[in-house]
Amino acid sequence: MISELQQLEKDALAELAGAATEEQILAVKTKYLGRKGLLTGVLRNIALVPDAEKPIFGKRCNEVKEVLNGKIDSALCLQSTRKKEDILLKEKIDVTLPGRGVFCGRIHPIIQVRREICSIFASFGFSVVEGPEVELDYYNFEALNIPQDHPARDMQDTFYIEEDVVLRTHTSPVQIRTMEKMKPPVRILSPGRVYRPDSDISHTPMFHQVEGLLVDRGVTLGDLKGILTAFLRKVFGEKTILRFRPSFFPFTEPSAEVDIRCVMCSGRGCRVCKQSGWLEILGSGMVDPAVFRNVGYDPEIYTGFAFGLGVERIAMLKYGISDIRLFFENDIRFVRQF
Ligand code: FA5
Ligand code: MG
Repeated sequence: MISELQQLEKDALAELAGAATEEQILAVKTKYLGRKGLLTGVLRNIALVPDAEKPIFGKRCNEVKEVLNGKIDSALCLQSTRKKEDILLKEKIDVTLPGRGVFCGRIHPIIQVRREICSIFASFGFSVVEGPEVELDYYNFEALNIPQDHPARDMQDTFYIEEDVVLRTHTSPVQIRTMEKMKPPVRILSPGRVYRPDSDISHTPMFHQVEGLLVDRGVTLGDLKGILTAFLRKVFGEKTILRFRPSFFPFTEPSAEVDIRCVMCSGRGCRVCKQSGWLEILGSGMVDPAVFRNVGYDPEIYTGFAFGLGVERIAMLKYGISDIRLFFENDIRFVRQF
């Protein structure tokens, strides 16, 4: 029996030496030390051993068991160390490589300029109100004294949703919506998106306007000129060259458009200003008495001025951008610069 045990130990150690993987090592463990294993089987036969030899035989059995257990454990341990080393070798990290930069998002240049405009007018005491982009014909045209046959009604200038519903072509309808709800004095500002079927280097089908309206007793054209000049000097600097040019809007009388000396060519004439040397940035005027009557204000008591400025035009002049369409292409290299 003892020699059988000796042979068993020798065989087990030889098999263990040949086991290359974790599975193979575990298979050796099961074969010899498992519940139905060979060593377990030998131990079960202890009854066949003569009484005198039993203590020695028992002792040897335990020794073999301990030796095998120890060898198996260290083989498993070695195996897992090798595995880790393999992984470390394969997943080498080169700490000398340059890092990858993280770019922060930022506010779109048009929204930045819109915010700047609003905060300057807020300092003049104007408060911000908003109106719908899908607008009734009545607010976009009719109440602003733009009759049915006015050229601004032409399909070419307006996106129609239904016969009486349009994408607003300007922010002026907010003037009407505000005056319907409020009694004078009124001093509001209304930023937002507007839509027209226009497209070239200074026009896009969707753009931003900021509407202003001030109504009170005794408001004059001098007030309009004063506030707009103060505003434009804050945006473009004290030395800004601007001009008030007589114009026409059905909802203001008299009316003026304001132009700024083209920054692309310093007034010499270029593609952006269409060779005129000037870039139009806003329309303005004294509120027409017909508009006051449409909202129930008495034009004998109240006067007021209104203006609507193009946010993209201001952004173009401020940053020297020669093509308005760049603002909406969302080329990350462009918008990241602001
Ligand atoms: C108007 O929209 C009037 N509602 C402005 C107004 C308000 C006048 C209150 C009087 C009283 P106009 O169509 O000129 O006016 O547009 C105003 C400004 O929007 C222009 O000066 C220009 O800066 C800008 N603008 C007009 N069309 C476009 C376009 N397609 N793309 C970008 N900017 C535009
Ligand atoms: Mg105009």
